[in-house]
Amino acid sequence: MWFFTRQIPKSQEYSGLSRIFSALMITLCSYSVLTAADLLRRGELVAIPTETVYGLAANALQPEAVVKIFEAKNRPFFDPLIVHLSGAGQLEKWALDIPESARQLARTCWPGPLTLVLPRGEHIPDLVTSGLDTAGFRVPDHPLTLELLTLLDFPLAAPSANPFGYISPTTAEHVMDQLNGRIGMVLDGGPCRVGLESTIVGFEFGKPVIYRLGGLTRERIEENVGPVELMLNQSGDPRSPGQLKSHYAPRVPLRLGDPVELSRELPGKRLGILAFQRIPEGEWQAGRVLSPGGDPAEAARNLFGMLRELDAESLDFILAERLPESGLGRAINDRLERAAG
Ligand code: TXA
Ligand code: MG
Repeated sequence: MWFFTRQIPKSQEYSGLSRIFSALMITLCSYSVLTAADLLRRGELVAIPTETVYGLAANALQPEAVVKIFEAKNRPFFDPLIVHLSGAGQLEKWALDIPESARQLARTCWPGPLTLVLPRGEHIPDLVTSGLDTAGFRVPDHPLTLELLTLLDFPLAAPSANPFGYISPTTAEHVMDQLNGRIGMVLDGGPCRVGLESTIVGFEFGKPVIYRLGGLTRERIEENVGPVELMLNQSGDPRSPGQLKSHYAPRVPLRLGDPVELSRELPGKRLGILAFQRIPEGEWQAGRVLSPGGDPAEAARNLFGMLRELDAESLDFILAERLPESGLGRAINDRLERAAG
Protein backbone atom coordinates (compact mmCIF):
# COMPACT_ATOMS: atom_id res chain seq x y z
CA MET A 1 0.00 0.00 0.00
CA TRP A 2 1.14 3.51 -0.75
CA PHE A 3 1.71 4.58 2.81
CA PHE A 4 4.48 2.02 3.24
CA THR A 5 6.45 3.67 0.46
CA ARG A 6 6.82 7.04 2.19
CA GLN A 7 10.38 8.24 2.65
CA ILE A 8 11.83 9.22 5.99
CA PRO A 9 13.92 12.40 5.44
CA LYS A 10 17.51 11.44 4.58
CA SER A 11 18.95 14.58 6.09
CA GLN A 12 18.31 13.29 9.60
CA GLU A 13 20.28 10.59 11.36
CA TYR A 14 17.98 7.98 12.79
CA SER A 15 18.91 5.36 15.29
CA GLY A 16 17.32 1.99 14.54
CA LEU A 17 14.64 2.37 17.18
CA SER A 18 13.57 5.93 16.41
CA ARG A 19 13.52 4.99 12.73
CA ILE A 20 11.09 2.16 13.41
CA PHE A 21 9.02 4.46 15.66
CA SER A 22 8.83 7.19 12.98
CA ALA A 23 7.87 4.70 10.28
CA LEU A 24 5.18 3.30 12.58
CA MET A 25 3.81 6.78 13.35
CA ILE A 26 3.67 7.71 9.65
CA THR A 27 1.95 4.43 8.87
CA LEU A 28 -0.59 4.84 11.68
CA CYS A 29 -1.32 8.46 10.70
CA SER A 30 -1.82 7.54 7.09
CA TYR A 31 -3.97 4.60 8.04
CA SER A 32 -6.31 6.82 10.05
CA VAL A 33 -6.47 9.34 7.19
CA LEU A 34 -7.45 6.53 4.81
CA THR A 35 -10.13 5.34 7.23
CA ALA A 36 -11.45 8.89 7.58
CA ALA A 37 -11.55 9.30 3.79
CA ASP A 38 -13.46 6.06 3.46
CA LEU A 39 -16.08 7.10 6.05
CA LEU A 40 -16.52 10.53 4.42
CA ARG A 41 -16.98 8.96 0.98
CA ARG A 42 -19.75 6.85 2.51
CA GLY A 43 -21.52 9.97 3.78
CA GLU A 44 -20.47 9.60 7.44
CA LEU A 45 -19.20 12.27 9.85
CA VAL A 46 -15.55 12.58 10.84
CA ALA A 47 -14.12 15.06 13.36
CA ILE A 48 -11.00 16.59 11.85
CA PRO A 49 -8.06 18.42 13.42
CA THR A 50 -7.28 21.92 12.21
CA GLU A 51 -4.88 24.56 13.51
CA THR A 52 -7.84 26.52 14.97
CA VAL A 53 -10.29 24.03 16.54
CA TYR A 54 -11.53 20.54 15.67
CA GLY A 55 -14.17 20.51 12.93
CA LEU A 56 -17.06 18.11 12.38
CA ALA A 57 -16.77 17.23 8.72
CA ALA A 58 -19.00 15.78 6.01
CA ASN A 59 -18.97 15.71 2.22
CA ALA A 60 -19.98 19.30 1.42
CA LEU A 61 -21.61 18.26 -1.86
CA GLN A 62 -23.92 15.65 -0.32
CA PRO A 63 -26.93 17.15 1.56
CA GLU A 64 -27.75 13.76 3.17
CA ALA A 65 -24.29 13.79 4.75
CA VAL A 66 -24.36 17.49 5.69
CA VAL A 67 -27.70 17.13 7.47
CA LYS A 68 -26.01 14.72 9.92
CA ILE A 69 -23.75 17.57 11.10
CA PHE A 70 -26.77 19.63 12.15
CA GLU A 71 -28.29 16.61 13.90
CA ALA A 72 -25.10 15.62 15.77
CA LYS A 73 -24.51 19.20 16.98
CA ASN A 74 -28.14 20.18 17.56
CA ARG A 75 -27.29 23.08 15.29
CA PRO A 76 -30.10 25.21 13.87
CA PHE A 77 -30.33 25.05 10.08
CA PHE A 78 -30.00 28.83 9.79
CA ASP A 79 -26.33 28.66 10.87
CA PRO A 80 -24.15 28.31 7.73
CA LEU A 81 -21.12 25.97 7.59
CA ILE A 82 -17.57 26.62 6.43
CA VAL A 83 -16.36 24.76 3.32
CA HIS A 84 -12.83 23.38 3.71
CA LEU A 85 -10.62 23.13 0.62
CA SER A 86 -7.28 21.39 -0.01
CA GLY A 87 -5.58 24.50 -1.43
CA ALA A 88 -6.07 28.08 -2.56
CA GLY A 89 -6.21 26.88 -6.17
CA GLN A 90 -9.52 25.15 -5.39
CA LEU A 91 -11.28 28.43 -4.71
CA GLU A 92 -11.96 29.11 -8.41
CA LYS A 93 -13.86 25.84 -8.58
CA TRP A 94 -16.39 26.66 -5.86
CA ALA A 95 -16.62 30.46 -5.54
CA LEU A 96 -17.70 33.15 -8.00
CA ASP A 97 -16.70 36.79 -8.56
CA ILE A 98 -13.59 36.57 -6.40
CA PRO A 99 -12.26 40.10 -5.67
CA GLU A 100 -8.52 40.73 -6.02
CA SER A 101 -8.20 41.35 -2.26
CA ALA A 102 -9.67 37.88 -1.60
CA ARG A 103 -7.16 36.31 -3.97
CA GLN A 104 -4.37 38.19 -2.25
CA LEU A 105 -5.50 36.97 1.21
CA ALA A 106 -5.91 33.40 -0.06
CA ARG A 107 -2.41 33.46 -1.57
CA THR A 108 -0.68 34.80 1.52
CA CYS A 109 -2.73 33.47 4.45
CA TRP A 110 -3.78 29.96 3.34
CA PRO A 111 -3.36 27.38 4.67
CA GLY A 112 -4.27 29.30 7.82
CA PRO A 113 -6.91 30.60 10.26
CA LEU A 114 -8.86 32.66 7.73
CA THR A 115 -12.33 32.07 6.23
CA LEU A 116 -13.32 34.01 3.12
CA VAL A 117 -17.05 34.59 2.50
CA LEU A 118 -17.67 34.73 -1.24
CA PRO A 119 -20.52 34.22 -3.72
CA ARG A 120 -20.91 30.47 -4.09
CA GLY A 121 -20.95 28.38 -7.22
CA GLU A 122 -24.03 26.29 -8.01
CA HIS A 123 -22.54 23.01 -6.73
CA ILE A 124 -22.54 24.05 -3.07
CA PRO A 125 -25.90 22.88 -1.62
CA ASP A 126 -28.30 25.33 0.10
CA LEU A 127 -28.04 23.32 3.30
CA VAL A 128 -24.35 24.26 3.66
CA THR A 129 -24.97 28.00 3.34
CA SER A 130 -28.39 28.13 5.03
CA GLY A 131 -29.75 29.37 1.74
CA LEU A 132 -27.37 32.37 1.55
CA ASP A 133 -25.91 33.04 -1.88
CA THR A 134 -22.45 33.25 -0.33
CA ALA A 135 -20.35 30.52 1.32
CA GLY A 136 -17.42 30.59 3.74
CA PHE A 137 -14.25 28.93 2.40
CA ARG A 138 -11.06 28.03 4.17
CA VAL A 139 -7.86 25.98 3.72
CA PRO A 140 -7.00 24.61 7.18
CA ASP A 141 -3.36 24.36 8.23
CA HIS A 142 -3.02 20.86 9.60
CA PRO A 143 -1.00 18.13 7.86
CA LEU A 144 -3.49 15.29 8.49
CA THR A 145 -6.49 17.26 7.31
CA LEU A 146 -4.65 18.59 4.27
CA GLU A 147 -3.66 15.02 3.43
CA LEU A 148 -7.29 13.97 3.85
CA LEU A 149 -8.62 16.82 1.68
CA THR A 150 -6.09 15.96 -1.03
CA LEU A 151 -7.31 12.35 -1.08
CA LEU A 152 -10.96 13.36 -1.51
CA ASP A 153 -12.59 14.63 -4.67
CA PHE A 154 -15.04 16.80 -2.71
CA PRO A 155 -14.61 19.64 -0.18
CA LEU A 156 -15.56 19.20 3.48
CA ALA A 157 -18.30 21.17 5.20
CA ALA A 158 -17.28 21.53 8.84
CA PRO A 159 -18.38 23.64 11.77
CA SER A 160 -16.57 23.37 15.08
CA ALA A 161 -17.06 19.87 16.56
CA ASN A 162 -19.05 20.86 19.69
CA PRO A 163 -22.72 20.86 20.61
CA PHE A 164 -24.26 24.14 19.35
CA GLY A 165 -23.42 27.13 21.54
CA TYR A 166 -20.83 25.31 23.71
CA ILE A 167 -17.05 25.85 23.87
CA SER A 168 -15.17 24.73 20.74
CA PRO A 169 -12.96 21.61 21.05
CA THR A 170 -9.17 21.94 20.80
CA THR A 171 -8.26 18.29 21.42
CA ALA A 172 -9.62 14.96 20.19
CA GLU A 173 -10.66 14.20 23.79
CA HIS A 174 -12.84 17.33 23.89
CA VAL A 175 -14.65 16.04 20.81
CA MET A 176 -15.12 12.55 22.26
CA ASP A 177 -16.37 13.93 25.59
CA GLN A 178 -19.39 15.37 23.85
CA LEU A 179 -19.95 13.71 20.50
CA ASN A 180 -18.91 10.09 21.16
CA GLY A 181 -21.48 7.77 19.62
CA ARG A 182 -22.83 10.44 17.27
CA ILE A 183 -19.96 10.47 14.77
CA GLY A 184 -17.97 7.97 12.69
CA MET A 185 -14.52 8.81 14.06
CA VAL A 186 -12.18 11.48 15.34
CA LEU A 187 -8.99 11.92 13.37
CA ASP A 188 -6.61 12.69 16.24
CA GLY A 189 -4.12 15.35 15.19
CA GLY A 190 -3.06 16.44 18.68
CA PRO A 191 -3.91 19.74 20.38
CA CYS A 192 -4.80 22.65 18.08
CA ARG A 193 -1.89 25.01 17.49
CA VAL A 194 -3.93 28.25 17.37
CA GLY A 195 -6.90 27.38 19.58
CA LEU A 196 -9.33 30.07 18.34
CA GLU A 197 -11.64 29.74 15.34
CA SER A 198 -10.71 31.32 12.02
CA THR A 199 -11.12 35.01 11.34
CA ILE A 200 -14.05 35.44 8.94
CA VAL A 201 -13.65 38.03 6.18
CA GLY A 202 -16.39 38.99 3.74
CA PHE A 203 -16.48 41.59 1.00
CA GLU A 204 -18.93 44.47 0.96
CA PHE A 205 -18.88 46.36 -2.33
CA GLY A 206 -15.55 44.65 -3.05
CA LYS A 207 -13.97 45.86 0.21
CA PRO A 208 -12.82 43.34 2.85
CA VAL A 209 -14.77 43.36 6.13
CA ILE A 210 -14.15 41.28 9.27
CA TYR A 211 -17.31 39.43 10.38
CA ARG A 212 -15.66 37.37 13.13
CA LEU A 213 -12.38 37.99 14.95
CA GLY A 214 -10.23 34.88 15.20
CA GLY A 215 -6.86 33.22 14.83
CA LEU A 216 -5.59 35.59 12.12
CA THR A 217 -5.15 39.10 13.50
CA ARG A 218 -6.69 42.19 11.94
CA GLU A 219 -3.17 43.63 11.79
CA ARG A 220 -1.96 40.72 9.64
CA ILE A 221 -4.94 41.09 7.30
CA GLU A 222 -4.33 44.82 6.95
CA GLU A 223 -0.68 44.22 6.06
CA ASN A 224 -2.01 42.43 2.99
CA VAL A 225 -5.03 44.41 1.85
CA GLY A 226 -4.96 47.74 3.70
CA PRO A 227 -7.52 48.96 6.26
CA VAL A 228 -10.46 46.64 6.97
CA GLU A 229 -13.69 47.45 8.79
CA LEU A 230 -15.05 45.35 11.64
CA MET A 231 -18.67 44.29 11.21
CA LEU A 232 -19.04 42.10 14.29
CA ASN A 233 -22.62 41.31 14.94
CA GLN A 234 -23.60 42.07 18.51
CA SER A 235 -27.35 41.82 18.23
CA GLY A 236 -27.75 38.21 17.16
CA ASP A 237 -28.27 38.15 13.42
CA PRO A 238 -29.61 34.63 12.82
CA ARG A 239 -27.64 34.33 9.60
CA SER A 240 -24.33 34.12 11.44
CA PRO A 241 -24.62 32.57 14.90
CA GLY A 242 -20.81 32.36 15.22
CA GLN A 243 -21.37 36.06 15.80
CA LEU A 244 -24.32 35.62 18.15
CA LYS A 245 -24.10 37.55 21.37
CA SER A 246 -24.22 34.36 23.43
CA HIS A 247 -22.01 31.59 22.05
CA TYR A 248 -18.85 29.64 22.94
CA ALA A 249 -20.33 29.43 26.44
CA PRO A 250 -19.54 27.17 29.38
CA ARG A 251 -22.48 25.88 31.45
CA VAL A 252 -21.29 27.73 34.55
CA PRO A 253 -22.21 31.44 34.15
CA LEU A 254 -19.19 33.52 33.16
CA ARG A 255 -18.56 37.14 34.16
CA LEU A 256 -15.94 39.25 32.41
CA GLY A 257 -13.98 42.06 34.04
CA ASP A 258 -11.73 42.62 37.07
CA PRO A 259 -12.14 39.33 39.03
CA VAL A 260 -11.43 40.92 42.42
CA GLU A 261 -14.10 43.59 41.90
CA LEU A 262 -16.55 41.06 40.47
CA SER A 263 -16.01 38.74 43.44
CA ARG A 264 -17.11 41.50 45.88
CA GLU A 265 -20.56 41.41 44.29
CA LEU A 266 -20.77 37.62 44.75
CA PRO A 267 -20.27 36.87 48.45
CA GLY A 268 -20.53 33.21 49.50
CA LYS A 269 -20.38 31.93 45.93
CA ARG A 270 -18.01 29.27 44.63
CA LEU A 271 -15.82 31.24 42.24
CA GLY A 272 -13.35 30.09 39.61
CA ILE A 273 -10.94 32.51 38.03
CA LEU A 274 -9.53 32.58 34.50
CA ALA A 275 -6.58 34.97 34.71
CA PHE A 276 -4.30 36.20 31.94
CA GLN A 277 -0.87 36.21 33.66
CA ARG A 278 -1.34 35.57 37.37
CA ILE A 279 -4.08 34.80 39.86
CA PRO A 280 -4.75 37.76 42.19
CA GLU A 281 -5.27 37.27 45.95
CA GLY A 282 -8.80 36.09 46.67
CA GLU A 283 -11.12 33.28 47.71
CA TRP A 284 -11.02 31.16 44.57
CA GLN A 285 -12.24 27.56 44.42
CA ALA A 286 -10.33 27.01 41.19
CA GLY A 287 -8.05 29.03 38.98
CA ARG A 288 -6.28 28.86 35.63
CA VAL A 289 -3.64 31.15 34.12
CA LEU A 290 -3.79 31.57 30.34
CA SER A 291 -0.17 32.67 29.88
CA PRO A 292 2.23 33.41 32.77
CA GLY A 293 4.57 35.11 30.29
CA GLY A 294 1.79 37.32 28.89
CA ASP A 295 1.83 35.78 25.40
CA PRO A 296 -1.58 36.16 23.67
CA ALA A 297 -0.82 33.22 21.32
CA GLU A 298 -0.27 30.93 24.32
CA ALA A 299 -3.42 32.35 25.92
CA ALA A 300 -5.40 31.56 22.74
CA ARG A 301 -4.12 27.97 22.73
CA ASN A 302 -5.15 27.51 26.37
CA LEU A 303 -8.45 29.42 26.35
CA PHE A 304 -11.04 26.79 25.41
CA GLY A 305 -9.32 23.91 27.25
CA MET A 306 -9.12 25.92 30.48
CA LEU A 307 -12.72 27.09 30.16
CA ARG A 308 -13.74 23.44 29.88
CA GLU A 309 -11.67 22.54 32.94
CA LEU A 310 -13.27 25.31 35.00
CA ASP A 311 -16.69 24.31 33.70
CA ALA A 312 -16.12 20.86 35.23
CA GLU A 313 -15.31 22.25 38.72
CA SER A 314 -18.87 22.67 40.12
CA LEU A 315 -18.58 26.44 40.49
CA ASP A 316 -21.28 29.10 40.76
CA PHE A 317 -19.40 31.54 38.53
CA ILE A 318 -16.30 31.77 36.36
CA LEU A 319 -14.69 35.21 36.55
CA ALA A 320 -12.53 35.95 33.52
CA GLU A 321 -10.02 38.71 32.98
CA ARG A 322 -9.76 40.68 29.74
CA LEU A 323 -6.55 40.67 27.69
CA PRO A 324 -4.99 43.85 26.25
CA GLU A 325 -7.15 44.89 23.24
CA SER A 326 -4.75 44.21 20.37
CA GLY A 327 -3.85 41.34 18.05
CA LEU A 328 -5.09 37.97 19.32
CA GLY A 329 -6.07 39.61 22.62
CA ARG A 330 -8.98 41.26 20.84
CA ALA A 331 -10.24 37.90 19.50
CA ILE A 332 -9.90 36.29 22.93
CA ASN A 333 -11.89 39.14 24.52
CA ASP A 334 -14.53 38.69 21.82
CA ARG A 335 -14.91 34.99 22.74
CA LEU A 336 -15.04 35.80 26.45
CA GLU A 337 -17.71 38.47 25.85
CA ARG A 338 -19.84 35.97 23.95
CA ALA A 339 -19.19 33.30 26.58
CA ALA A 340 -20.50 35.84 29.10
CA GLY A 341 -23.55 36.21 26.83
O1 TXA B 1 -11.74 27.82 12.51
C1 TXA B 1 -12.88 27.63 12.08
O2 TXA B 1 -13.47 28.44 11.38
C2 TXA B 1 -13.55 26.30 12.47
C3 TXA B 1 -12.77 25.16 11.82
C4 TXA B 1 -13.43 23.83 12.04
O3 TXA B 1 -12.58 25.43 10.47
N1 TXA B 1 -14.91 26.30 12.07
C5 TXA B 1 -15.86 27.05 12.69
O4 TXA B 1 -17.14 26.83 12.21
O5 TXA B 1 -15.62 27.83 13.57
P1 TXA B 1 -18.45 27.30 12.95
O6 TXA B 1 -19.57 26.60 12.32
O7 TXA B 1 -18.35 27.11 14.38
O8 TXA B 1 -18.60 28.77 12.53
C6 TXA B 1 -19.03 29.03 11.22
C7 TXA B 1 -19.48 30.43 11.16
C8 TXA B 1 -20.99 30.59 11.17
O9 TXA B 1 -21.53 30.58 12.46
C9 TXA B 1 -21.14 31.94 10.53
O10 TXA B 1 -20.91 32.93 11.51
C10 TXA B 1 -19.96 31.99 9.55
O11 TXA B 1 -19.11 30.94 9.89
N2 TXA B 1 -20.36 31.79 8.16
C11 TXA B 1 -20.35 30.66 7.42
N3 TXA B 1 -20.82 30.88 6.19
C12 TXA B 1 -21.15 32.19 6.14
C13 TXA B 1 -21.70 33.04 5.14
N4 TXA B 1 -22.01 32.59 3.94
N5 TXA B 1 -21.89 34.34 5.47
C14 TXA B 1 -21.58 34.83 6.71
N6 TXA B 1 -21.05 34.07 7.68
C15 TXA B 1 -20.84 32.77 7.41
MG1 MG C 1 -18.69 26.98 16.31
